[in-house]
Amino acid sequence: MATVELLDVRKSFGAMQAVAGVSLRIAEGEFVALLGPSGCGKTTTLNLIAGFLEPTGGDIRFDGTSVARLPPHRRNIGVVFQSYALFPHMTVAQNVAFGLEMRKLPKPQVTERVRRALDIVHLGQMEDRNSRQLSGGQQQRVALARALVIEPAVLLLDEPLSNLDAALREQMRFEIREIQQRVGITTVFVTHDQSEAMAAADRLVVMDKGVIRQVGTAREIYETPVDPFVAGFIGQANLIAGTIDRVTGGQAQVVLEDGTRVVASCRPDAHAGQAVMLMVRPEDASVSAVAPPVTAPSATPPSGGNALSGTLLRASLLGATINLGVAVGERSLSVSVPRGTALPPVGSAVFVTWDPERALLFPA
Ligand SMILES: Nc1ncnc2c1ncn2[C@@H]1O[C@H](COP(=O)(O)OP(=O)(O)OP(=O)(O)O)[C@@H](O)[C@H]1O
Ligand SMILES: [Mg+2]
Repeated sequence: MATVELLDVRKSFGAMQAVAGVSLRIAEGEFVALLGPSGCGKTTTLNLIAGFLEPTGGDIRFDGTSVARLPPHRRNIGVVFQSYALFPHMTVAQNVAFGLEMRKLPKPQVTERVRRALDIVHLGQMEDRNSRQLSGGQQQRVALARALVIEPAVLLLDEPLSNLDAALREQMRFEIREIQQRVGITTVFVTHDQSEAMAAADRLVVMDKGVIRQVGTAREIYETPVDPFVAGFIGQANLIAGTIDRVTGGQAQVVLEDGTRVVASCRPDAHAGQAVMLMVRPEDASVSAVAPPVTAPSATPPSGGNALSGTLLRASLLGATINLGVAVGERSLSVSVPRGTALPPVGSAVFVTWDPERALLFPA
């Protein structure tokens, strides 16, 4: 186990800055997920940690010691890629043993460590199976055993589940988490799937265009995203532009682009005249056929008056929730309500309402 530090790490490919100054400290035994849209620099960051790429700038340290100039085999890392790349002509045990044999470990030790690694990934009974005769999930577990068998200080996983079908992915994300906890290994997990990252990791690192936008627990990032990009990337977000008219006691009155006035909690530095982006999560909003009670405009802050009038476009049952699309002026807002909620008919006029405490304001 090791701490991993990235200090203003940069990587350019010609004029293209794939990683543009990333700083991050990963604690011993911590499970961190790097996530972000395609091309944001996740794989490049992981390859820099692994040593498959050399940084153009900055430093990478394991336990306080720079590894930036060390080749991969001297960094004590285990790596699992999207394509598990098992040797097809070898058995499960031979695949897992490969790295140990390269290190010239004595045979009895190899056998013992292979057995332990396969037990960890719940493949204890499959040692002699040909690796071609395994399901995708089993192959991925062999790849994980192969990475763990060398007892690395750091485990690096690049989209290890993306070749699996949806149900297996969901099962494997918890399994990887459980194995990581049991082994207690410092882990960096790359994914572009937010629910995978939220389910597996201690902390999420949200990247965009080669930089880190936000680092935090799933809850921190979901409840207090730092900007509209993070809000829209982690979970769904309705974003509506507006201008602050007045700030009173931690709440702002906002005039939205269509002239509607609403109230939202705001940051201490929010001020009248500021251009903002209002964010409401779909599950924090609801729809009703009748307008909520109008409070006197003089009340500070007015309560319950957050309402945008629109038309209910669609209602789709997604399982536990119903997703509603509501046309409000030019835009379509997304509202999520529990299954079984009584709803006005599709096509009718509705009001979208929300609790001001649940809305966030970002500087535009
Ligand atoms: N060897 C390379 N040569 C030139 N450009 C590269 C190279 N590797 C990556 N890039 C560029 O660097 C940027 C970051 O790539 P990277 O593979 O790190 O993205 P990613 O976040 O892993 O994306 P994805 O989710 O699609 O895997 C991209 O714009 C990519 O085109
Ligand atoms: Mg990638």
